[in-house]
Amino acid sequence: MESQLSLEFLRVVENAAIAAARTMGYGDRHKADLVAVEAMRKTMDGVMMDATIVIGEGERDEAPMLYIGEKVGAAAHKKHPSAPKVDIAVDPLEGTNLCATGAPNAIAVLAASEEGGLLHAPDVYMEKIIVGPSCKGAVELDAPVADNLKSIAKRLDRDVEDLVVVVLERERHEKLIDDIRKAGARIKLIGDGDLSAGISAAVVGTGVHAVMGTGGAPEGVLAAAALRCLNGQILARLVLSKPEHEERAARMGIKDGKRIYDTEDLAPGKNIIFACTGVTEGSLLRGVRFFGEGIRTHSMILTFDDRQVRFVDSVHLEKRPDVKVRFA
Ligand code: FBP
Repeated sequence: MESQLSLEFLRVVENAAIAAARTMGYGDRHKADLVAVEAMRKTMDGVMMDATIVIGEGERDEAPMLYIGEKVGAAAHKKHPSAPKVDIAVDPLEGTNLCATGAPNAIAVLAASEEGGLLHAPDVYMEKIIVGPSCKGAVELDAPVADNLKSIAKRLDRDVEDLVVVVLERERHEKLIDDIRKAGARIKLIGDGDLSAGISAAVVGTGVHAVMGTGGAPEGVLAAAALRCLNGQILARLVLSKPEHEERAARMGIKDGKRIYDTEDLAPGKNIIFACTGVTEGSLLRGVRFFGEGIRTHSMILTFDDRQVRFVDSVHLEKRPDVKVRFA
């Protein structure tokens, strides 16, 4: 499945990113998301697979396309014996506000696995702590912030003062931010996009050592898929603060709402593909660049079983006879 579909999924995220990037800075986050969803949906339907959306734009009554449970792919309605059956999690535009304002780190994202390989999580909040390979097993979701930071610093062979923790800038994180500051670590506050920050935490050299705080649960599952491939770790717990959340979680088969999930619980698949393309310029990926003769995109494709990490720089040329390709 991984070798069969990874380049197909590259096209899916590239097309979503290109569509969203055309709206960059227009101040219309809904439009940016809509065009990314449409591009992703259209491209997925050309892929020979029998796929089910397990994390998408919402439940059937609230999303016209890419809703949870929707069947996608060329073999979804017309059976084809060789088509793989896959579960797909998407975030066609992670960081809708980032794209709408031209801020960094908006990305188009897709993760896939064999059936049952990704947790079916409701669109609620999730408490998270994310670290890279060197810090696997060093942190606990409920440990005091200062203890986690000490353990991370020890594993990275540096002082707590030398760590950078990414936190979404939200009122709910006032105490967390205060605790990190008191412990002495540095903080990078972000307006949106804890998924791209989570991927960065697992890539050495990005300058991100951990991500802490509460963000979206869908982003948590997508991060777990990437972290499985990058050998990082996410610990997470759903925030089910209303009876309606409990009901939604129960409908998705979640029995214990207080459970702490590890990376393998969120993305247990034996085969995992994670693909993302930069929409706006970012610390890990470049944004979409439009030039006279084409479009250039920068993507990351990860496969778990094949153990491949690919950074892909694609040039999508105009169909013109005199077209030229530049080196960079
Ligand atoms: P969107 O792409 O849906 O706008 O989500 C961006 C995001 O910042 C995520 O990265 C994060 O997990 C979540 O929203 C946080 O939610 P909230 O903005 O409600 O705090």
